[in-house]
Amino acid sequence: MLIREAAAEDWPQIWPFWHRIVAAAETYAWGPDTSEEDARALWMSPAKRVYVAEDDTGAVVGSAYATPNYGGPAAGVANAGFMVDPDQAGRGIGRALAEHVLEAATAAGYRAMVFNAVVETNPAVGLWTSLGFRILGTVPAAFEHPRHGLVGLHIMYRAL
Ligand SMILES: CC(C)(COP(=O)(O)OP(=O)(O)OC[C@H]1O[C@@H](n2cnc3c(N)ncnc32)[C@H](O)[C@@H]1OP(=O)(O)O)[C@@H](O)C(=O)NCCC(=O)NCCS
Repeated sequence: MLIREAAAEDWPQIWPFWHRIVAAAETYAWGPDTSEEDARALWMSPAKRVYVAEDDTGAVVGSAYATPNYGGPAAGVANAGFMVDPDQAGRGIGRALAEHVLEAATAAGYRAMVFNAVVETNPAVGLWTSLGFRILGTVPAAFEHPRHGLVGLHIMYRAL
């Protein structure tokens, strides 16, 4: 597997799993009916450094971004997002993307990374914890989960 910076031409391969993940409405606080144009503007924004994971055939199987979480004097705190094609989940792609992004964010000079809204039922909480993130707090009953009902959103933090 190769992890590299994304190019604009990668978007058509990101969109199918982006759409599938957001339409499931279990992990991201974006509208499940977000259009492809809005999704591209969100994920591939020039403010973000975007990465893709390629499998051995060159197919894009995951993507991630890092961006300042705040502005001005707090711009040294990063935010990041991660998506892996659900058909390829559980093969270590998410962990590899996260390790890559953490390393790149550290090299870029960020002091810390914050996740603003990790759905408390998301198994990814365990992944983030294993990578050194801790839960700073939880916004209670913030997210209407299609199967679990109202669940909390964790704010997660790690120093870099
Ligand atoms: C979260 C996500 C990026 C993880 O990617 P992945 O390639 O499936 O993750 P990995 O195979 O690297 O697994 C990482 C760890 O998380 C655990 N894990 C990940 N997804 C899991 C799931 N759905 N159920 C149970 N465990 C899970 C694995 O057990 C694994 O632990 P290990 O490395 O100690 O074996 C991916 O599931 C995804 O895109 N989810 C939807 C979007 C999302 O939730 N993004 C994060 C928002 S905070």
